[in-house]
Amino acid sequence: MTTICFVGAGSAEFTRQLLRDLLSYPDLGDLNLVMHDNDPRRLVLAEQLAQIAVAHHGSHAQVRATSDRRAALRGADFVINTVSIGGHQATLTDFDVPERFGVRQTIGDTLGVGGVFRGLRTFPFLHDLARDVTEVCPQAWLLNYTNPMAMNIGYLTATFPALAPAPPNPGPPPTTLPSGTSTTPKLALGQLYGDGFTVFVVHGSGFVPLTRVRVELIGHGVAPFRPTVDHMGTFNYAIDQGHAFFTGPIPVGRYHILVTGVRGRRATATFQVVPQQPSPPGGPSPSASGRPPASAGAQLTGRGSSVQGA
Ligand SMILES: NC(=O)c1ccc[n+]([C@@H]2O[C@H](COP(=O)([O-])OP(=O)(O)OC[C@H]3O[C@@H](n4cnc5c(N)ncnc54)[C@H](O)[C@@H]3O)[C@@H](O)[C@H]2O)c1
Repeated sequence: MTTICFVGAGSAEFTRQLLRDLLSYPDLGDLNLVMHDNDPRRLVLAEQLAQIAVAHHGSHAQVRATSDRRAALRGADFVINTVSIGGHQATLTDFDVPERFGVRQTIGDTLGVGGVFRGLRTFPFLHDLARDVTEVCPQAWLLNYTNPMAMNIGYLTATFPALAPAPPNPGPPPTTLPSGTSTTPKLALGQLYGDGFTVFVVHGSGFVPLTRVRVELIGHGVAPFRPTVDHMGTFNYAIDQGHAFFTGPIPVGRYHILVTGVRGRRATATFQVVPQQPSPPGGPSPSASGRPPASAGAQLTGRGSSVQGA
């Protein structure tokens, strides 16, 4: 049975949506849902919400509610934090005080002065929550929704490093592709034709994992950014207007991409930029369809070619 503890469960919208998601998928097995809030009225509401959600999904999940945080955390596998320290009244202060000094904010809960205010009043709570998690359910994952999210995680990482997930041991860099993946370097394009405003996305596969590749647009130079190949030997790169190779729209013409990776792996692909054509009223742009206009010729196959080194 998987035990999930909602801290700040009276955050009705978050709790409702999370419950719906959790109860819609069987991945976590039977669920034990624990509602915790320091506002008794909201706690009752949260418990009722959970009971309704469980009944609605025909689930066998168990629900319990408590205002005692340490009791709530007991046996938790996941702790979901959605508290709002100070509530609505404090949020108003986050806007009003800076405004008196000429700082007007549209949103003040993530960054800026309002975010700093919110962070400063949330850190003591986070300290106590992290201490309790460490002592009561040290194996649990603490998942944080509470804003300011980045500051809160920064604070927790600095003060309770034991809560941080252990980085996976990458081991030695792989020298071969994982089984089941292509060993032949290939490029495929998201779209073979387009106008000068089209983003041509290059999907590479069959390159050596965890290495970088060099992207050249023949006759136009080499991309300053070298994409990283993932564990599966694939990478994506976008050729776009106003970026890397072109200062404005991509001029009409045919373009050849050459990608070079380590161990002599190379692959090529071609795309074509055609003149922008006016759309028929209400109809799609011909160039956005991915098909060449009649005048563009139809010699592209949709496949890149590849050359594999020794
Ligand atoms: N991550 C995101 O994308 C995202 C988006 C919107 C809001 N938020 C954040 O999510 C949080 C919840 O937002 P909301 O609008 O649902 O707030 P809300 O005020 O409706 O709910 C917060 C709940 O926390 C409870 N609470 C306050 N202090 C507590 C404490 N010490 N112990 C236990 N419970 C406590 C309150 O009683 C209330 O039930 C806020 O911090 C908000 O900034 C995050």
